Amino acid sequence: PLPRPFTVPLPIPAVARPTRPGHYEVVQRPAKVEIVPGTTTEVWGFDGTFPGPTFAVRRASPVTVRVRNELPVPTSTHLHGGVTPAGSDGYPTDLVVAEGRGFRPPPGGHSHHGMLVDPSQWTLHRGARDYAYPLDQRAATLWYHDHRMDFTAPQVWRGLAGFMIVGDDEDDALPLPRGERDVPLMICDRAFEEDGSFRYPATDPSLLVSAGVEAAYMEGVEGDVILVNGAPWPVLEVSATRYRLRLLNASNARRYRLELTPGGRFVQVGSDAGLLATPVAHEAITMAPAERFDVVVDFSAYPVGTEVTMVNTLGTGPARDVMRFRVARRGREDSAVPGRLAEAEPAVRPTATVSRSFDFRRTGQGPEAAWTINGLPFRPGSPLARPRLGTTEIWRFTSDFHHPVHVHMAHFRVLSRNGRIPAATDGGWKDTVDVRPYEVVEVLVRFEGFRGRYMMHCHNLEHEDMAMMADFEVV
Ligand code: C2O
Ligand code: CU
Repeated sequence: PLPRPFTVPLPIPAVARPTRPGHYEVVQRPAKVEIVPGTTTEVWGFDGTFPGPTFAVRRASPVTVRVRNELPVPTSTHLHGGVTPAGSDGYPTDLVVAEGRGFRPPPGGHSHHGMLVDPSQWTLHRGARDYAYPLDQRAATLWYHDHRMDFTAPQVWRGLAGFMIVGDDEDDALPLPRGERDVPLMICDRAFEEDGSFRYPATDPSLLVSAGVEAAYMEGVEGDVILVNGAPWPVLEVSATRYRLRLLNASNARRYRLELTPGGRFVQVGSDAGLLATPVAHEAITMAPAERFDVVVDFSAYPVGTEVTMVNTLGTGPARDVMRFRVARRGREDSAVPGRLAEAEPAVRPTATVSRSFDFRRTGQGPEAAWTINGLPFRPGSPLARPRLGTTEIWRFTSDFHHPVHVHMAHFRVLSRNGRIPAATDGGWKDTVDVRPYEVVEVLVRFEGFRGRYMMHCHNLEHEDMAMMADFEVV
């Protein structure tokens, strides 16, 4: 009983309110919500909502977020794109367990039934813990989500994700659309059972005893319903003016190629980690899981009454539709997209630097199959690299499949794809890059921020849970 597309109004996640300046508290809890009209879905949400509340924060104004876990499962919360001290980065074995709940590490193994974890690697917080975010970083659209060892994919699928939007003076000084015309859009796919509950092919639906998905889903789990801000194929009424859309692909495994019909352009002003130096117009934007595109769409290009549909031309059937904008009225235009947005250094190849290679590949057969980096399944505490704080390195990613490669803490620029200049959508500072099958992607990574243990991994969440992660240690 799925809704007709473009009938449910686009929800906008609530903005989190600090308990006192610089301090927030959120509770991870189950909640019954209406996603498919006429049915209820149990979500696991921050404050019981999916998406969770949006944290509207400022560059260099540190915040502390106390996360209380009232779920039946352990959690770890990662701020994706955050330049965060290692202790608050949401490492997968650094868990919060609800008051009164036990914790039993899943039986190890390096297959798709859980990774081998040395017992010394687990850290447990009872009830709640504080995450400290210094936010000494440029204005950008960040997001937060669960990162529990072996179970990130099913726990994000149930709803544990939200936005954190960093503002700064550089961004404020631009005449870009603001307020109601600055809209975060979390795009993700889900599948539903007849009764409205989420359908996910976990081998152990309790998510307590053993990890993994049914073998047929090794490549990743996709759903046939596209949600934007938690609503199926929603519609937003807009005035015939410019809107800033902060696009996030929060899907476990689905990639999108977004286009506007009947025609139109996305003018990109920012990427994962902040503003571009100059705007770039795209007819289509391909987004891999975890990527963000900060774009401006000018709805004055359409007559009032036009229905502008954002479609996914990589999708078939219902997954081809994403959402609709209904140009409902004229509006007063007070925004513009200036030709120069930010001071951003060009991605020039430095002469003296360390280069490293990371190969993302499937290994093994049948129950032994795993997704690995440089042939190795994830081993917490065994870093594959030790870059020095304050330096820049070239990292080369190769792959056998689509792997959206994400690096924690350190942002990067894409230098080349298969030895050629990067795609128009690869611009700006990023934290996630879509490495396509048999591609070689070179990035220039800047290790600025903090020393300590961080990780890189494939952001196809099923691949991540099936060992495609590695530590690196900034020294
Ligand atoms: Cu968005 Cu390590 O993840
Ligand atoms: Cu992958």
